[in-house]
Amino acid sequence: MSELKPYLTDLIAEVDAALDRYLPAENTTPETIHKAMRYSIFAGGKRLRPVLCLAAAEALGADRSVAIHAACAVESMHTYSLIHDDLPAMDDDDLRRGRPTNHKVFGDAIAILAGDALLNESFVMVSRTAKTARYHGLDFVRELATAGNSQHLIGGQVMDIEAEGKQITREELAHIHDTKTAALLTTSIALGAMAADASPIQLSCLTRFGRALGHAFQVIDDILDVTADTATLGKTAGKDLVAEKSTYPALLGLDGAKAEAQRLTGEALHALDELDGDATRLRQIADYLLKREY
Ligand code: IPE
Ligand code: IPE
Ligand code: MG
Ligand code: MG
Ligand code: MG
Repeated sequence: MSELKPYLTDLIAEVDAALDRYLPAENTTPETIHKAMRYSIFAGGKRLRPVLCLAAAEALGADRSVAIHAACAVESMHTYSLIHDDLPAMDDDDLRRGRPTNHKVFGDAIAILAGDALLNESFVMVSRTAKTARYHGLDFVRELATAGNSQHLIGGQVMDIEAEGKQITREELAHIHDTKTAALLTTSIALGAMAADASPIQLSCLTRFGRALGHAFQVIDDILDVTADTATLGKTAGKDLVAEKSTYPALLGLDGAKAEAQRLTGEALHALDELDGDATRLRQIADYLLKREY
């Protein structure tokens, strides 16, 4: 099994170069919004969603370039969700990706609009995905739009905010994590698979992988909020406790949350057992996410 690190470096470089091509240049009028969009997109995120998108296409034997528009689209939607998540009216965060948050630099109005603009660009980007025998442009757009809708990402953000300061059940918390985080992560994988003309069985297998991995990912995010420091995270540590967020560490304790992250990652890996394809990279990524420190 070859090393994951150089593979990730290659994929991230491809995604960054493509995002730079697809997004309006910084000096495009009106300059403020384009500066703000690029400020957050190129702030140095892990690029996990586009990496999963490209790796899913490769797992099905395609050249990963077929999924590059979709990969940029999911990163653009993700970055919009982060800009809005950090707003004073939401999580009220000052630091993101190791930099002052978008609204701290550009003000609330431009940050809201930069998020909106990145969201719209995500649909333009994904619509450019070349059609395959099974899927065409609208299938890709529908898949992405659904992940970001009020029953998925946005719905999850609503429930996350409404659960502040409340005792919720494990099922309710699982539903929040599934919608606010696992939905877009799953769609990232599904879009890569669809760009590679996945069969229904391949798609369902990768979707099961994505849901469990995405759920594990948010559990780990909640754990790191407790255990990691601000400098390592690139975002303010310890915020969830202060905001009385409903999280796995709050509900199950740190050890319980770690066991749950492990269990969900195991479930994700198990889903790959049935994949008609080469799951090596996807397995490595799941393993890396469980061990990540930021
Ligand atoms: C943070 O996502 C928000 C969550 C859904 C947990 P990431 O941890 O992927 O953030 P970046 O993209 O690396 O900044
Ligand atoms: C955010 O979850 C999920 C999104 C859809 C953006 P968090 O609020 O826990 O993400 P961080 O910790 O601020 O990155
Ligand atoms: Mg939040
Ligand atoms: Mg937040
Ligand atoms: Mg968090």
